Amino acid sequence: MTHVLVTGGAGFIGSHVTAALAAAGCKVSILDSGHPAAHQGPLPSEVADSPVTVGDVRDREAVARALAGVDVVVHQAAMVGMGVDLDDLPEYVGNNDLGTAVLLAEMHRAGVARLVLASSMVVYGEGAYECGHHGPQRPMPRSVAHLAAGEFDPACAVCGETLRPALVSEDAPLEPRSVYAATKLAQEHLAAAWARQSGGSVVALRYHNVYGPGMPRDTPYSGVAAIFRSALEAGRAPRVFEDGGQRRDFVHVSDVARANVAAVEADPGGMVAYNVASGRPATVGEMAAALAGAMGGPQPVTTGEFRLGDVRHVVASPQRAADELGFRAEIDITAGMIDFARAALR
Ligand code: UD1
Repeated sequence: MTHVLVTGGAGFIGSHVTAALAAAGCKVSILDSGHPAAHQGPLPSEVADSPVTVGDVRDREAVARALAGVDVVVHQAAMVGMGVDLDDLPEYVGNNDLGTAVLLAEMHRAGVARLVLASSMVVYGEGAYECGHHGPQRPMPRSVAHLAAGEFDPACAVCGETLRPALVSEDAPLEPRSVYAATKLAQEHLAAAWARQSGGSVVALRYHNVYGPGMPRDTPYSGVAAIFRSALEAGRAPRVFEDGGQRRDFVHVSDVARANVAAVEADPGGMVAYNVASGRPATVGEMAAALAGAMGGPQPVTTGEFRLGDVRHVVASPQRAADELGFRAEIDITAGMIDFARAALR
């Protein structure tokens, strides 16, 4: 029986991953710090009948103890989201990068050679784009002047025509544009270096916009799905920024959990990254409408507001995960939002 250590296994995604691994016949144990950004009260002693040890991935001794008898580590523990301000920069780097460094060093010492890493689509920065006349393009960050004028779509650097979103594959250039994004990419780099030096293997799963039961409520660390869900629950209309036409791939957390099971079962060797996405992109406006519909209103309002750090479109290619891990998402946005509308948040 494969023994899997899930770091962050008491959190939103980690608890679904734990349950899916246990259901797939793995022995699972959890190391979770109970970080206040993710947990209000004390941690449960078990998640899906798997024991929870309270401990921080930066604590060498706690990690060494947790690794005893483990075959694979599924590393979900991290600080997520955009955060409050630059004051929390050391907290991001400490949790995400120092934490990963300690984990990798202790895995090497304990002879644990397999890692599944929760990465993120934020490593790409903007998604991929194409101009009808000039082919693939990598636009610069959008300017305040363009955004304020309601010109939300990036334009071709040559002819100025509006670019079309294209599928982002794992080979796309990596261009983190936030502290969080920089820490996720650093995790990938550290894991790749560890795999080269130790002969171990890493599957990095680049999650797109994850939503589903147990998602944290509206906090500075929340993505748009949690913000809309919290607004609707309070009887407020979801506020859709820009013109609502920005595209994302909203992937249900149970599909993300299945991708982790597939990653534990596969062992491609070395370091390989995979998009974890539904493969059926939606605009933020469509997502808001689907969720508002499922919750019985109020209908979303499109505000034209913008956030400077936001990228316009990130549309994932799910192909590599399908070909190499046999992973295909099962839940489309309509069914997923109906489920999400009824689900409990944390
Ligand atoms: C989000 C996460 C990111 C994570 C990634 C993949 C945050 C803040 N961002 O990135 O950390 O790695 O998913 O899972 O957690 N919007 C509105 N109204 C709102 C809030 C947002 O319309 O009230 C719009 C934004 O302008 C943006 C889109 O929704 O266009 C997505 O926003 P958000 O979920 O915050 O960020 P992502 O870039 O998708």
